[in-house]
Amino acid sequence: MKILNFGSLNIDYVYSVEHFLRGGETLSSDRLDIFCGGKGLNQSVALKKSGIEVYHAGALGESDGAFLLDFLDETGVNLEFVRKLPMKSGHAIIQKNPEGQNCIMLYGGANQNIERSQVDAVLEHFEEGDFIVLQNEISEIGYIMEKAHEKGLRIVLNPSPMDSKIFTYPLDYVELLILNEIEAGDLLSSTIENAAKIDAEIKPKSTGLQAQGDVLIKQLSSRFRHMKILLTLGDDGSIYRDADTIIKQGIYRVDVVDTTAAGDTFTGFFIGAIAEGKSEKEALELAAKAASISVSRQGAAPSIPDKKEVLSWDF
Ligand SMILES: Nc1ncnc2c1ncn2[C@@H]1O[C@H](COP(=O)(O)OP(=O)(O)O)[C@@H](O)[C@H]1O
Ligand SMILES: [Mg+2]
Repeated sequence: MKILNFGSLNIDYVYSVEHFLRGGETLSSDRLDIFCGGKGLNQSVALKKSGIEVYHAGALGESDGAFLLDFLDETGVNLEFVRKLPMKSGHAIIQKNPEGQNCIMLYGGANQNIERSQVDAVLEHFEEGDFIVLQNEISEIGYIMEKAHEKGLRIVLNPSPMDSKIFTYPLDYVELLILNEIEAGDLLSSTIENAAKIDAEIKPKSTGLQAQGDVLIKQLSSRFRHMKILLTLGDDGSIYRDADTIIKQGIYRVDVVDTTAAGDTFTGFFIGAIAEGKSEKEALELAAKAASISVSRQGAAPSIPDKKEVLSWDF
């Protein structure tokens, strides 16, 4: 059984600025930091670090993307299905102010130039029972899902970042849906006719995210009956639900440094553990531990621990 992650590869350009740009203004930045990014890349790193083999499929620019491949290669991700295109890699231009806040402009570049011919060529190498992991940062997700389903692949979807394209995908083919509370709210309010009703049910009763989580997971399971659902709730933990069981997982407390990639770390470790045959309960525990370590460190992909480290931490 193989694991394929068909997802984004991104370059994050972080410019330090005195203040965010205003219309018509020209502003100098005296510091530029460049990082590997993209939910696809982060999740491939987390999948690999959870201890399984992972194939990353995707696209990047032939002139600017080499360091992304170097990073993934050093991590041990299989890159034979990454295509180099004569264009810019997907990238984010990020302004960071002295208070540490961000202002982000995202350009899809090669990530939005995934072609059906690439999808067909990649999926030829996978077969029934293999896992395919998807996020919402590349083009042709709907087509990938159709083809993956035809071949009997097990589809895991993380509908992030959430946008209206999600509703055009064949969601019935998803075996496991992994999402956070904001994505869950967006998904429900646009799929259930009366969005106001959901608001009324969720908001007044909730005392916090956990109460909101209970309502959300119930709504998700009744809307997407055949799916296994994993809802993450930031520092309120996570809830897993399938036809037979509901499991709640708390967080492991750490000194929080940077929560970027917490969700991606959690996703990669959960899927990795399930693919290795672990129970959902064990997978949740491992994912929560890995994600908590990642929030205790600066950065996105570089903050993701490997399984050995997760098991050696004394929580
Ligand atoms: N402050 C935190 N301390 C410890 N673990 C955390 C913290 N924030 C998030 N996590 C872990 O990471 C998981 C995913 O975080 P979440 O914020 O829900 O994802 P996303 O990054 O997609 O919004 C949580 O379910 C939890 O296990
Ligand atoms: Mg969150």
